[in-house]
Amino acid sequence: MTVDNALLSDQRLRITALEPFGLALHAVDRGRPPTDLPVPSLRALVREHRLLLLRDFAGFDEPAELSAYGARWGRLSVWPFGTVLELVQQPDPADHIFDHSHMPMHWDGMYREHIPEFQIFQCVHAPGEGNGGETTFSDTAAVLTNADPATRALWSRATGTYHRKMEYYDSTCVSPVVTAHPVHGTPVIRYNEPTAEADERFVNHPDLEFSGLADKSELAELHRGLRAALYDPSHLYAHAWRTGDLVVTDNYTLLHGRNAFTNGAPRHLRRVQVLGDPPLANPGLVR
Ligand SMILES: [Fe+2]
Repeated sequence: MTVDNALLSDQRLRITALEPFGLALHAVDRGRPPTDLPVPSLRALVREHRLLLLRDFAGFDEPAELSAYGARWGRLSVWPFGTVLELVQQPDPADHIFDHSHMPMHWDGMYREHIPEFQIFQCVHAPGEGNGGETTFSDTAAVLTNADPATRALWSRATGTYHRKMEYYDSTCVSPVVTAHPVHGTPVIRYNEPTAEADERFVNHPDLEFSGLADKSELAELHRGLRAALYDPSHLYAHAWRTGDLVVTDNYTLLHGRNAFTNGAPRHLRRVQVLGDPPLANPGLVR
């Protein structure tokens, strides 16, 4: 593990590796403000380890504080609701994002003008022991490294066309399944995992179509193989939230989703998105 020196020499941090990827920085003195840690060092850690957990630091009481913290990392994505998304179950959700259901793997920004480099999540309230609701992250660079050549060749022929209409957008995105990390060119996967159309409990299905494959059996093999690899324990980190956690992720490399949680569990996350420098114009957005 290569850890940035400024943080390695910080006696008030306990640093542990997450499995199968990611790094956790625990505040030794509970309630230390996360603003104590230099953002350039943290940014380097996220780029190297894909995911960084800050645990036992002081929380942010108000959404504006999370937004101000995110702005230390870079320019934030601005949505119709502002910069902070309140991820909390709604009583009669118009979209699965605000439900308690499973959230399929996807990358943030796929339907937006810019793809954020980082996501910063704050756990305002954990769902509670045994209630599920883990946010799932898959390391797609590792998935590709470990895929056998024939499987990788099949995935590399496929292109996904995704259309999704919800409160904040009505957009189409077209992306090869295998593409290159926009900064260093490492092969990564961009994929929105399908959910069964028959699942009526899943609110507001996106429309997905895949081209470049010979027939239905290749298409079935694409989805089967990707699902198996993305959720393989050697590539998947499922974060079990504790109140106060801050998690920062590399959205250029990872795909993420959510495990279903108990209906009515008090799960409350906030999220901001940090754009790259320069911001990455979404190469897949079709107007
Ligand atoms: Fe997302």
